[in-house]
Amino acid sequence: TDDNGLVTRMNFAAQQILGWTIEEARGRPLDDVYQRIDDETRQPIRTGVEEVIQRGRILSQPRYPLLTTRDGATPCALVESIAPIYGDEGVIEGAMLVFRDENRERAHGQALEASQARTAAILEASLDAVVTIDAAGAITEFNGAAERMFGYDRDAVIGLGFADLVLPARLGTAYSDAVQRDLATGETHVLGKRNEMVALRVDGTEFPVEMVLARIPVEGAVSFTCFIRDLTAAKRSEEALRRSHQQLRALAGRVEAAREEERTRIARELHDELGQTLTAIRMDLGWLVLRTKSMPPAVAERLDAMSQLVESTFLMVRRLGTQLRPGILDDLGLAAAIEWQAREFEGRSGIRVDVDAPADVGTLDPRYATTVFRIFQELLTNVGRHSEAKRVTARLWQAEHSVEFEVRDDGRGIRPEEAANANSLGLLGMRERATLLGGSFHIGPAEGGGTLVRVTLPREVRA
Ligand SMILES: Nc1ncnc2c1ncn2[C@@H]1O[C@H](COP(=O)(O)OP(=O)(O)OP(=O)(O)O)[C@@H](O)[C@H]1O
Ligand SMILES: [Mg+2]
Repeated sequence: TDDNGLVTRMNFAAQQILGWTIEEARGRPLDDVYQRIDDETRQPIRTGVEEVIQRGRILSQPRYPLLTTRDGATPCALVESIAPIYGDEGVIEGAMLVFRDENRERAHGQALEASQARTAAILEASLDAVVTIDAAGAITEFNGAAERMFGYDRDAVIGLGFADLVLPARLGTAYSDAVQRDLATGETHVLGKRNEMVALRVDGTEFPVEMVLARIPVEGAVSFTCFIRDLTAAKRSEEALRRSHQQLRALAGRVEAAREEERTRIARELHDELGQTLTAIRMDLGWLVLRTKSMPPAVAERLDAMSQLVESTFLMVRRLGTQLRPGILDDLGLAAAIEWQAREFEGRSGIRVDVDAPADVGTLDPRYATTVFRIFQELLTNVGRHSEAKRVTARLWQAEHSVEFEVRDDGRGIRPEEAANANSLGLLGMRERATLLGGSFHIGPAEGGGTLVRVTLPREVRA
C-alpha cells in the first residue's frame, strides 16, 4: 500500500489468493481487497496497516486469522506479517503485507504424501526389481523385489555404485560408459531401451536379466530408475523348448530317413527277387506253351490264362516298386525323376505339367534328390486335390550357394491363412524336409493368381 493504506502493488500469488487482479485493486483501500475475520469470533478484524505506517514497526501475526476471498464465500487460513516500506529519505512510504494460503499448501502436502505412498506401494508390489540411481550412479532406492533378486538388504546398498554392485565387472564399466555417452549425445542406445544382460547376485552367481534404465524426467539433477526382470526361468523354459524342438526334428528326420531306406529296400527286393522269380516263371510258361501243340485245347487255354496272370502280376510288381521309390531317381537322377513324375501326374489328372530341370542338377547329394522329389510329389497331390489348376510349371536350378526349386500352378491360389496354418501336416512335412537339410520352404498365393512354392536348399549340407 501507499502511506494512506491504498493498494499499489500485488504479486501474482496475492492476486490468486485474494481473487483480485492488480488493475481492479489498485488505488482501493486495503480493507476492500483484504478482509479478515477472527477464526473464533467470526468478527471482522482490523489489519493493523495504519499502525505499521504510523509507528514504523513490523507486525507479525502468530495466529492464523481467516481471510475472506473476493466472493466472500471461502475463507482460507493465512499467516502474515506487515512491514513498513521506507523511502530514500527514511520516511515511511507505505506498508507491505506478506501472507500465505496455508490451506492450499496443506492440500499440496497431502497430495504429495498420498502420491509418495502410492509410489512406494507400487514399488514394493512390483515383481520387477526397481532401483533408483542418482547422477553419480549411486543407489537411492532399492525395492523389495530387488532385495530378493540380488540378495542385498536395502539399507546396506543405498549410496553404493549401482553398476559395480549388480553387474559383473566385465559389463559394469561398459554399461556406465554407454549411459554416459547417451547422456552426452542425447541419443538413446541404452536409456529407455530393453537390454538383455547378465547380473550378479550377492553370492557372486550370475543370472540373465532384462533391464530398462529410464531417466527420471525432473528438472535439475539427473537421476534414473532401473527396472530389472529375472530371466532365469524364462531362459530355462526357452532352452528346454528349443531342445525338445530339436529332438523332435531329429526324430522326424530319422523316421523319414528310415522310411526312405525301407522303401528303397522293398522296391529293390520287389524288383530283384519277386521280379526275377516272375520272369523265371514267365520263361518256363513260354517253354511249356511251345510244347503244348499236341495237348488238349483246355490245357492250352489254361496255360494262356496263366501267362497273362503272370504278365499282369509282373507289371503290378514293377508299378508297386516305382511307387515306393522310383528307380529312376537313383539311376538317372533328380531331373529325370521329376520329369517322369510330371508325366505320370499328367496322365492321371489331365493337368499339364511343364518341367524345366537341367539334367546335372541334384547330383550333388542324394539327399537333395529325395527331398526335392518327395516335396514335388506332395505338391502335385495338393495341386490335384485343391488347386483347380489347368497347368503347373516346375523349375529346378542351381544358384551359387543353393539348389532352388519352384513350382507354380494357375489354380485358385492358396489363401495366406491356409499357408500359415501350423496344423497343415502336408505343408509341415514339406517344410520339415527342407529344414532338415538347412533349407527353407515357402508357399503362398502367386502374383497373378495360383499358388507359388519355393524351396531353397543350401549346397553345403549341414547335417
Ligand atoms: N496348390 C494349392 N492350391 C490351392 N490351395 C492349396 C494348394 N496347396 C495347398 N492348398 C491349401 O492348403 C491346405 C493345406 O495343405 P496340406 O497339404 O498341408 O493339407 P491337405 O492337402 O489338406 O492334407 P494332407 O496333405 O495332410 O493330406 C490345403 O487344405 C488347401 O486348402
Ligand atoms: Mg496335402
